Amino acid sequence: MENILLVENLIQSFRVGKGLLDELTFQNGRFIRETLRVHAVNGVSFEIPRGTVFSLVGESGCGKSTTARTIIKLLEPKGGRILFQGMDITRFSKKEMLPLRKQMQMIFQDPYASLNPRSRVLDIVREPILFHRLADTKSQATEMAMDLLQKVGIRPEQANRYPHQFSGGQQQRIGIARALSVHPQFVIADEPVSALDVSIQAQILNLMMDLQKEFHFSYLFIAHNLAVVKHISDHVGIMYLGKIVEKGRKQDVFSNPKHPYTIALLNSIPRLEGKNLEHTPPIKGEIPSPLHLPSGCHFHERCPYAMEICNEVYPEERMTAPNHWVSCHLY
Ligand SMILES: Nc1ncnc2c1ncn2[C@@H]1O[C@H](COP(=O)(O)OP(=O)(O)OP(=O)(O)O)[C@@H](O)[C@H]1O
Ligand SMILES: [Mg+2]
Repeated sequence: MENILLVENLIQSFRVGKGLLDELTFQNGRFIRETLRVHAVNGVSFEIPRGTVFSLVGESGCGKSTTARTIIKLLEPKGGRILFQGMDITRFSKKEMLPLRKQMQMIFQDPYASLNPRSRVLDIVREPILFHRLADTKSQATEMAMDLLQKVGIRPEQANRYPHQFSGGQQQRIGIARALSVHPQFVIADEPVSALDVSIQAQILNLMMDLQKEFHFSYLFIAHNLAVVKHISDHVGIMYLGKIVEKGRKQDVFSNPKHPYTIALLNSIPRLEGKNLEHTPPIKGEIPSPLHLPSGCHFHERCPYAMEICNEVYPEERMTAPNHWVSCHLY
């Protein structure tokens, strides 16, 4: 199947403290000023076949949002390659990205912050249609926007209201309508329901899945909640400290996890159905700082199975079954 997106060895980092936090190191008899950097994304590779859902999962701070923002070119990549529909967009300028903006859309975690507070809801959804000239006339654009609003459950008489006059769940519905207004091929949803009440989360997730069936776009879905990921995804990637440690078809990763970190993550969710994973020792300590990445495997300090080599060499990605990849010296 053709890929909508292919990401190869993506790297992103941030300079912190404007030099105040730079460190002096001494190497080969000379002092060197070292810039302190947050190493947020450290060589991430994955692909998304057209029409499918790929989920990125991992603890807070592991680099999920930074990966997403780099893919959509809100941030310039520091390394690696991004291929969108086979086109290398890694070095595309803002101007070159403009026509692609209608094919790649993003749904954000905080719906209110992502909507212009001074625009009426109709305008919020209609504006991208007009900007990308997807309608011949303004009245046709209005019709398209109203149609979408109705699809996401906003009634016609509500279309002239402002974002603050809606609940969080409704605001996210409006954000979804805006993202879909340009008929994107690819939608990145960065924790789209985590700011919402649990009671509303299911409605929004169901809506997102229904719309995908109707419009046939592909998703990069970012989430903490493994139970959600289990239902919504075709493929998953487990992230730890800026790396994907395991990836594959959802059913393989969930029923036969390989990486000790994946196993620990899965053990941390209550299991209502199916068999429990074999008992494993708990993970020690806390996620290390991305300012100073650990040597070798990023997980070795916390891993109950760490061997000597784990401290020295980052494990190469290996295929343990068709379409199931893991970076761990145990395999
Ligand atoms: N603009 C920035 N400047 C400096 N550091 C940043 C910036 N954006 C993100 N970071 C750092 O990069 C790392 C990865 O952040 P990111 O937001 O990608 O994590 P995340 O996996 O999305 O976390 P969460 O689940 O909490 O949303 C974190 O250590 C974060 O503090
Ligand atoms: Mg995030």
